[in-house]
Amino acid sequence: MKTNRREFIRKAGLATACVCTGLAGVNGCSMIRGVSKTPGILSDAWEFDGNSLVVDLDKADSLRKPGGAGKLNIGDKVNRDETKVIIIHHKENEYKAFADCCTHGCRELNYLHDKEQLECSSFGKSAFKLTGKVITGPAEDPLKTYSLIKTDDKIIIKIA
Ligand code: FES
Repeated sequence: MKTNRREFIRKAGLATACVCTGLAGVNGCSMIRGVSKTPGILSDAWEFDGNSLVVDLDKADSLRKPGGAGKLNIGDKVNRDETKVIIIHHKENEYKAFADCCTHGCRELNYLHDKEQLECSSFGKSAFKLTGKVITGPAEDPLKTYSLIKTDDKIIIKIA
């Protein structure tokens, strides 16, 4: 079947619009979500009183060894907005805690122990130093970091 000039232009315009729409979604991290590989920390391994998050290291399996990481959502326990936290066991007896929210589009993070960095699970894959500073964007702002204290078998993270 022969296509006339007007029909060809209409089809070409439609195809261009589809490609542009698809690319806009990919670039914005809004259409494609990554999946975080970091395990959750069971709810019986931590407590949150509205200010401090206390994690029992004897019950948090994923934090036992250096290189481990775990995440939890304190919003579940205090009936407030969702607040996700990712905790990493960086070196022997050295832990760090961050808001589990990429500063580009608030997708979840993964800890890459071999690279000593956190990486967004989204298509954009922003990467952050363990100080929270941006290594590669599209994120521009640093990660929120939380101060913490380590005792014999617990870490106490200051959230408020
Ligand atoms: S949400 Fe876009 S790079 Fe993280």
